[in-house]
Amino acid sequence: MTTHHLFPEATVTLRVGVRDLRPGDLPACTWSGSATHLRHVERELARAAAGEVDYLAVCTPADLPVAIGGVDYRATEGAGTLWQLAVLPALQSCGLGTLLVQSAERRIRARGLHRAELAVEEDNPRARALYERLGYVAYDRAPDAWDEEDPDGAIRRHETMCVLMRKNL
Ligand SMILES: CC(C)(COP(=O)(O)OP(=O)(O)OC[C@H]1O[C@@H](n2cnc3c(N)ncnc32)[C@H](O)[C@@H]1OP(=O)(O)O)[C@@H](O)C(=O)NCCC(=O)NCCS
Repeated sequence: MTTHHLFPEATVTLRVGVRDLRPGDLPACTWSGSATHLRHVERELARAAAGEVDYLAVCTPADLPVAIGGVDYRATEGAGTLWQLAVLPALQSCGLGTLLVQSAERRIRARGLHRAELAVEEDNPRARALYERLGYVAYDRAPDAWDEEDPDGAIRRHETMCVLMRKNL
């Protein structure tokens, strides 16, 4: 007879902190995307050093990032634009995305700005529902495109349609 060691369902409380993402964190962020994506994030960290963007990391007590995302202050005049939000797949639906968005909004307000903007792909209704729950309102739609890397390393152009959303802070 096989013995299965089944554990009762349990709730684990995870303490997390929010800080700026650093270049040294990138090897621990491979869950967020391809090598191409991480090179892109690395370039954004150079812009963060110049003050053009904030790039945030939600970290566990081991100081490892489980949610990352940027705020671009150059994309739209007078607003901070949230982009590249990503939560470690194993920890999605636990509230980390909400914490990331709220932390980004605090950074925007700290710069004396009163509007947050973001774009979400039309075929990503879960993310859109989250932003609506947090007070974002759709005001337009726009096409977007970026390079994506296949598992075999081939680069392909991804063309998509996005819903543009904003929130007054
Ligand atoms: C979209 C994304 C950033 C949201 O982050 P998240 O951590 O999953 O979001 P949250 O947990 O804060 O909220 C999402 C869900 O968790 C639920 N939730 C929030 N806090 C919770 C808690 N403490 N306990 C249980 N559930 C909770 C919400 O009700 C919501 O429900 P849903 O699963 O039906 O959507 C994340 O899922 C992700 O990285 N997705 C893939 C990449 C992507 O789509 N990025 C967005 C591009 S615009």
